[in-house]
Amino acid sequence: MSPRFDITSLLTELTVEEKASLVSGSGFWWTRKVERLGIPSVMVTDGPHGLRKQGAAEDHLGLGGSVAATCFPTASALGSSWDVDLVHRVGAALGEEARAEDVAVVLGPGINIKRSPLCGRNFEYLSEDPLLAGELGAAMVRGIQSQGVGASLKHFAVNNQEADRLRVSADVDVRPLREIYLAGFERVVKDAQPWTVMCSYNRINSVYASQDPWLLTELLRGEWGFDGLVVSDWGAVEDPIAAVAAGLDLEMPSTGGASAARILDAVRAGDLDEAALDTAIDRVLRLLERTLPGVESQHAYDPDAHHALARAAATDCAVLLKNEGGLLPLVALEGRLAVIGEFARTPRFQGAGSSKVNPTRIDDALTALRAGVPPGVSVDFAAGFGVDAPGADSPALLAEAVEVARHAHTVVVFLGLPPSYESEGYDRDHIDLPVDQVAVLRAVADVNDRVVVVLANGSVVAVADWEHRAGAILEGWLGGQAGGGAVADLLLGVANPSGRLAETVPLRLSDTPAYLNFPGEDRHVRYGEGLHVGYRHYDAVDREVSYPFGHGLSYTTFEYSELSVTVLDDHRPSPGGADPATAGEGRAETTADWRGAVRVEVTVTVTNTGSMAGQEVVQVYVADPECSVVRPVRELKAFTKVSLEPGESELVVLLLSDRDLSYWSTRADGWVLEPGVFEVAVGTSSRDLLLTGTVEVVGQPLALPLDRTSTLAEWLDHPVGRDVLLASLRTSPVGDLTPMLDDAEQLRMLGSFPMTRLATMVGAGGSTDLVDEMLARVQA
Ligand code: BGC
Repeated sequence: MSPRFDITSLLTELTVEEKASLVSGSGFWWTRKVERLGIPSVMVTDGPHGLRKQGAAEDHLGLGGSVAATCFPTASALGSSWDVDLVHRVGAALGEEARAEDVAVVLGPGINIKRSPLCGRNFEYLSEDPLLAGELGAAMVRGIQSQGVGASLKHFAVNNQEADRLRVSADVDVRPLREIYLAGFERVVKDAQPWTVMCSYNRINSVYASQDPWLLTELLRGEWGFDGLVVSDWGAVEDPIAAVAAGLDLEMPSTGGASAARILDAVRAGDLDEAALDTAIDRVLRLLERTLPGVESQHAYDPDAHHALARAAATDCAVLLKNEGGLLPLVALEGRLAVIGEFARTPRFQGAGSSKVNPTRIDDALTALRAGVPPGVSVDFAAGFGVDAPGADSPALLAEAVEVARHAHTVVVFLGLPPSYESEGYDRDHIDLPVDQVAVLRAVADVNDRVVVVLANGSVVAVADWEHRAGAILEGWLGGQAGGGAVADLLLGVANPSGRLAETVPLRLSDTPAYLNFPGEDRHVRYGEGLHVGYRHYDAVDREVSYPFGHGLSYTTFEYSELSVTVLDDHRPSPGGADPATAGEGRAETTADWRGAVRVEVTVTVTNTGSMAGQEVVQVYVADPECSVVRPVRELKAFTKVSLEPGESELVVLLLSDRDLSYWSTRADGWVLEPGVFEVAVGTSSRDLLLTGTVEVVGQPLALPLDRTSTLAEWLDHPVGRDVLLASLRTSPVGDLTPMLDDAEQLRMLGSFPMTRLATMVGAGGSTDLVDEMLARVQA
């Protein structure tokens, strides 16, 4: 791309007033312009699963209208696809619609970890697992940016609840921060180089994300190599001067000149270095340069093609949780099919808040089923319940549903969360379906034993209390504007379900990892569960769940065979992201090997042993059973989705790099690959591991530096310190002390004593001198 502006000379031509004005927005959605120098303004727009471009009546809470756009499945649905290629295609379609609407940046994807199922905004997030969220997030960014439109990776970082979201401090330890909450962002930044990152509202360990120099500069740019612009979440800036100094480049929305005035005063008073402002301006201008060709191109998209893509996506995302006796697909229907539940007629297909799209059209499942059932089958509908709170008409609706069900061959009950249950801005109080809906299910199941449940919800719902009343359950999530047609295809066997849970379905809310620490109090929320988020928690405490992470059934069957797990001698540079469709696109060369060497090759043969074409998600979980720190029982480290015809086999090859086997060491302040045996399991969910292999990895033993508070055990473990210590013990002023190491029990007890204290206790006197001498010898 030829440079549009001479950024260096613009920086000298802009007055300090103009510079101060350029680091905040104009109105809700625009950057500021400087006509005198030909600097235009560009528009940014939500959102993660469809464009929400507003016109004159702009607001950011989703109250005002927006242009018609394709509403794709929300992130919780897309996450369940486990399909990087699909998410890339959805991203590209979003980018295309943005370009057609002259929008420069799409404000998404949102990849925050689903820490608790109560987070009101979980429908906008991908997974409880950082690898899955990161891989799909990277695919979405690449897709959007393939159209010359910027993506905005959000909400950076540790924004895992809506309660008090503008002030709350997420108090999280370094290891979970690195291994869980930042890991997905790191992956997307390094693999897909988003043109913008949106910082979150909240504080992290007491510091606002919008004014945290470590987060926005040291880590994001210094360590991860991010070369784009950091934009604030809408209204996230408390102190615009601290924000610019920390590395925030664009405050949104407009503050009506207030921030510019404060920044100007600070520069004049010498409280803000003008160089920091120049850095921000440089990035604003660079964003314009990157996005203007797309904005200025003439482009139109095909709404029908995008609707078809939305339907294909929704089909790929739905998860068949349960299917007793092959109740689904409904291929042998006869007589009457009862369709019950208002959601079949009035679909709930997206969430509320800033991501709310004005869809180009809406498919409902009832119409699609009527069109799709075999000739001779009639479809009877009963609403069963009102979408909102139970009303006076509930008993009549229930009675009508029972009558319709009584005479039907099969009943499909559409249940789900009312829109008011989950939204940006507030969290949920519980994870249950409304009682009147469950009452309808029970009453219907009393008169008909062929009951299928279809769910519409953005965040997980508990199923334990009622699922035994249904023979089959299809989790359709918030499937976007074409979700109704997709559900009909899946029920009727026109399509084969292939979604897998991107989050665990717990038995009950009180089982969930953050239960005792959500949403915090007094402006702080303590991430007390540490690393043990999602399936990592349920596995660590061996707790039963309704449906585990990774679970999802198909109408066909798959067999796994010939697992081979090999350590590669010729360590190759890592090939980069697992997005085969788009490998290389938009990826900065300098970051292609951030995972380190490829260490382990996993190969397994997957065969479709059933009679219908289908897709299988091959999941690789790694365990490090012996490690010097606590690690989750197992963690997802690679996955891929394969399509197989009946009888077809495929040899699946997945690679594990150094990073996949490493943990974050707080003491070493870095990633550590500890040598030893790793277990590598391949399965169909985190709880259904079919084949397991082991590999011994050489790795780098961690030699933590010794200091004056290092313990006896740490000295004995240290490759050099051990010999120095033994020599000192042998020649101590009170005689040879090495025999005290012979008694294993005593050694275990004394092992935790810092050497200084031990030396004093055993009468070696001048303990500090002695330990200092020993340290000097280790150093030497
Ligand atoms: C949300 C962001 C959104 C922005 C603009 C904020 O309230 O948190 O996700 O992009 O508004 O609508």
